[in-house]
Amino acid sequence: MLTWEELENKCRNCYRCSLGQTRTNLVFGVGNKQSDILFVGEGPGYYEDMQGEPFVGAAGKLLDKMLASINLDRTQVYIANVVKCRPPQNRDPLPDEQKACLDYLRIQFLLIKPKIIVCLGRIAAQAIISPDFRITKSRGIWFNKKGIDIIATYHPSALLRDESKKRPAWEDLKSIKKKYEEVRNLQ
Ligand code: URA
Repeated sequence: MLTWEELENKCRNCYRCSLGQTRTNLVFGVGNKQSDILFVGEGPGYYEDMQGEPFVGAAGKLLDKMLASINLDRTQVYIANVVKCRPPQNRDPLPDEQKACLDYLRIQFLLIKPKIIVCLGRIAAQAIISPDFRITKSRGIWFNKKGIDIIATYHPSALLRDESKKRPAWEDLKSIKKKYEEVRNLQ
């Protein structure tokens, strides 16, 4: 099993897919490596690529508010993405790019050992829950894989584009808060 340092070095030197050639910075992940809860987005955008940190642009500001609404902040959770390098023009990461990068995310899962994973949007849900996952149909539903409770909700960018998604996203956040309190109380 790799250490955090070994994993991050591997990612920093990764050219498994072509995104490695166009990245400015690797966006490895941030937060509490002992957290019970892990949030997974899609992939870095322009600002994330510039700063080497996930969710620092407009979607990130909203993610911070979503976390605050359930009494959490970035120091208490871990935040990562399905792909760690920016897809050009912010297009969806291609299946091969996701496949190349998912091994790294899986090692992050093994190192963090979260009790809860929150998939932010369709790409994360399809990569982590099921390839045919439909976000409108199955967001807000809890799944369990290898003892980890997993849920998907709308990606903050989708909430910025479509106000009508905010209410269901709030329902998901309340469910996430409840589950988080449950797993914390079991310790
Ligand atoms: N959107 C994502 O999915 N991840 C980020 O890090 C930023 C925006």
